[in-house]
Amino acid sequence: MQKEHPVFSPMIQGYWRMAEWGMSTQQQHAFVKQHIELGVTTVDHAPVYGPESACERMFGDVLTLDSSLRDQIQIVSKCGIYRGEGKYVNHYNSGKAAILESVDESLQRLKTDHLDVLLLHRPDLLMDADEAAEAFSQLKAAGKVKHFGVSNFTPAQFALLQSRVDESLITNQVEINPVNLQVTEDGTLEQLQQERVRPMAWSCLAGGRLFSEENDQFQRLRSTLHQVAEEIGANSLDQVVFAWVLRLPSNPVPILGSGNIERVKTAVGALDLQLTNEQWYRIWVASKGHDVA
Ligand SMILES: NC(=O)c1ccc[n+]([C@@H]2O[C@H](COP(=O)([O-])OP(=O)(O)OC[C@H]3O[C@@H](n4cnc5c(N)ncnc54)[C@H](OP(=O)(O)O)[C@@H]3O)[C@@H](O)[C@H]2O)c1
Repeated sequence: MQKEHPVFSPMIQGYWRMAEWGMSTQQQHAFVKQHIELGVTTVDHAPVYGPESACERMFGDVLTLDSSLRDQIQIVSKCGIYRGEGKYVNHYNSGKAAILESVDESLQRLKTDHLDVLLLHRPDLLMDADEAAEAFSQLKAAGKVKHFGVSNFTPAQFALLQSRVDESLITNQVEINPVNLQVTEDGTLEQLQQERVRPMAWSCLAGGRLFSEENDQFQRLRSTLHQVAEEIGANSLDQVVFAWVLRLPSNPVPILGSGNIERVKTAVGALDLQLTNEQWYRIWVASKGHDVA
């Protein structure tokens, strides 16, 4: 049984690919309402999603079309990545002024007065944790952000920031899927479990590559996922992958990347599935191409 999270829904709808979905504002509105009905009430955004922050802007148009939606959802957005688009080199900035400015811009685009969660999008080698903490306090006091977290942070980077921020960081949003096992091996998930902080899991389906790539690892994975799907009565491979992510003891909250409501429905069905240890490790072995020690 999945634990309830005080802030997030059991699964989160990701909006990174929203600009590629080719939907009108009315179609986007219908999609948001449908995933809310499925219990997916948290949405994940970032200023760098879509050309010139198109995804936050498009989502803001949906909230303008139907202002009643805002109270039914929790909005996660991020800050810290600067794409130069030929004018300057891509870089990170988690200085106080940059964080404050980025949040103001996100709020304007999203047409809302607050974010439920703000994440530092990537570890910034120049991050001064005291400055970032000051920015967080100021945003909290102004009512612009309710909770704070990070994304793609190592345990040491997480611990450093936490040592300066008054309230608990509420997540580390990281890549979790059976293809890339890094966070299961480098202490990231152990630290979060220790701190009782639930990770958010991005690209659970390896960005869709699980269905298309032809190398040995992906072929082994697909064949094992089919086998396990039959054993547990899952509808599809994606459902098994979400069940695999959910089985981790740090209790990840999967972020869904699909703009297809039927796939969102399938993913939500994984909340009722439970893999045995043997099934979970069979998928791990398929990924690695070798047995456990
Ligand atoms: N913090 C970070 O650094 C970071 C990085 C990456 C992503 N994220 C967040 O995580 C969210 C999810 O990431 P993601 O989009 O990479 O997730 P994903 O679920 O791994 O990939 C989604 C892609 O897979 C395709 N797909 C899903 N089911 C499929 C199926 N059965 N057959 C074929 N293709 C299928 C989807 O296409 P359809 O739309 O056609 O279904 C979509 O293009 C993002 O929206 C974003 O919010 C965060």
